[in-house]
Amino acid sequence: MRTFLRITLSKILGWDYINKKGYLTPSPRRIKQYEDNMNVGTRVLEIGPGSGVISRMAFEKGAKEVVAADINPAAVKATKKHVPNATVLQSDLFTEVNGKFDTIIFAAPWSEGSAKASSAHAVYEDGVVGRFFKEAKGYLTKNGRIWIQYSDAYPKNYERFHNSIKKHGYGIENEWNYTCFDIMVKKQARVLLYEITPDTQS
Ligand SMILES: C[S@@+](CC[C@H](N)C(=O)[O-])C[C@H]1O[C@@H](n2cnc3c(N)ncnc32)[C@H](O)[C@@H]1O
Repeated sequence: MRTFLRITLSKILGWDYINKKGYLTPSPRRIKQYEDNMNVGTRVLEIGPGSGVISRMAFEKGAKEVVAADINPAAVKATKKHVPNATVLQSDLFTEVNGKFDTIIFAAPWSEGSAKASSAHAVYEDGVVGRFFKEAKGYLTKNGRIWIQYSDAYPKNYERFHNSIKKHGYGIENEWNYTCFDIMVKKQARVLLYEITPDTQS
């Protein structure tokens, strides 16, 4: 019953929620932040496509090839169905990914805690962002860029997010944000989209 109420409320209020199939149904406003700001190159990798909505957007924005890699089998199935022209892989970050990409997208999870069920990888950060920044450089072309979404709902995670960007030698080119209610911390927080490039000196 509590799940039913949470899903109904999320649908009405436009929040992210884990649907009955076990993958994230995204908040329209969060997706619009990508729609309004992101541009993509020819070859795109999305880490964590969930439903596949941003991978589909990448094709609409002009990508010729999209590879989408999610750790959650339910998200892999959904992305294969919703974006039939993408190459969809079940992968822990880059483990099954080959090659270099002009654009890497990651709408990352930001909540504190660890994922016990596959679907919970959509919610709990659990160190994934640090691993992402450590490895992503090896999959970017020379002028490649990263479009990553995160939130300041959890101040310690948000600080670690920014520390990882610096530690692994990236720079923030642009950022956008909006404020909304975060259901996990039950308070207002910012959702931020960052355009990031590897520092050329590092
Ligand atoms: C916040 S959800 C975003 C889903 C979708 N891109 C969207 O914007 O609605 C994060 C996604 O990243 C995936 N994910 C989390 N950790 C991952 C990992 N280590 N490797 C691959 N995918 C991961 C989750 O399963 C989930 O689909």
